[in-house]
Amino acid sequence: MEQIFQPGKLAGRVALVTGGGTGIGLETATQMASLGAHVVIVGRRLDVAEDAAAGLVAQGLKASAFKMDVREYAMVEAVFGEVVHKHGSLDILINNAAGNFRADTEKLSPNGWRTIIDIDLNGTFHCCRAAFPALSASQHVGRIVSIITSYAWSGWPGCAPAAAAKAGIQSLMRTLAVEWGNRNIVCNSVAPGAIGDTEGTRRIHEDAGRAAHELGRVPVGRFGSRADIAAAVAYLVSPAGRYINGTDLVVDGGRQFCFGNA
Ligand code: HXC
Repeated sequence: MEQIFQPGKLAGRVALVTGGGTGIGLETATQMASLGAHVVIVGRRLDVAEDAAAGLVAQGLKASAFKMDVREYAMVEAVFGEVVHKHGSLDILINNAAGNFRADTEKLSPNGWRTIIDIDLNGTFHCCRAAFPALSASQHVGRIVSIITSYAWSGWPGCAPAAAAKAGIQSLMRTLAVEWGNRNIVCNSVAPGAIGDTEGTRRIHEDAGRAAHELGRVPVGRFGSRADIAAAVAYLVSPAGRYINGTDLVVDGGRQFCFGNA
């Protein structure tokens, strides 16, 4: 991993990443662990979370894993309580867990809609709510970073629930930035564009046969990398980011200004 921050910048912090076992979540967990944080990887599949944590520990980094479905508030609260009990604090929450699939909205079942809203939007609320006491007590200014998408404001045909949920998360971050700014917590979003090598890009671009078309709309001429997102998150949760509150850090190579998403 490219080392762009001073080593040890996150020493003494405990950082929890939802959906941290794969993709952008794992890359972000790795980046924060490499900066000295103890990283807690949570996900629905315990084996995936445990393998990811073991991979970090094998590199000499600090990590642990828990099974947690962000849709189940009682489980979220129990896991967060155990994290604080075991590791002494919770300083950083990364809301990364998400679900998405392509479906024409006129054919989308109400349960399909509800499922995505439940994972993305309700899950993010559950984690923020359960993390509040610990983050508020952080000695490093508690941080919440939610991974959204720049497609949240353009909309995305075929992904109505995910686009709506991500827009809801963006709004939630702004509200919490105002509500919790004086409670020792800052809240921000990171908005990736198409990130190569992720399930999201595979589903909405590659499987749909429109990857080349989408690439043509990215001014810098390449899809993003997981490392691009991890670096943006690391900046926000670092000491350099402690006065940044309520912003959306867009990491999409300028895609948001190339209008059109068909
Ligand atoms: C139509 C579908 C569907 C599909 C599921 N459903 N997949 N409908 N097309 N491809 C419907 C089902 O029919 C069902 O409704 C309902 O959704 C719930 O499906 P389940 O399979 O029971 O749900 P679950 O097991 O909880 O799985 C959740 C999931 C799954 C989101 C559907 O794909 C998942 O776990 N994904 C996690 C990983 C992921 O999606 N990562 C990508 C993130 S990318 P009925 O009516 O039949 O009961 C990202 C970028 C966002 O977030 C960019 C946005 C623009």
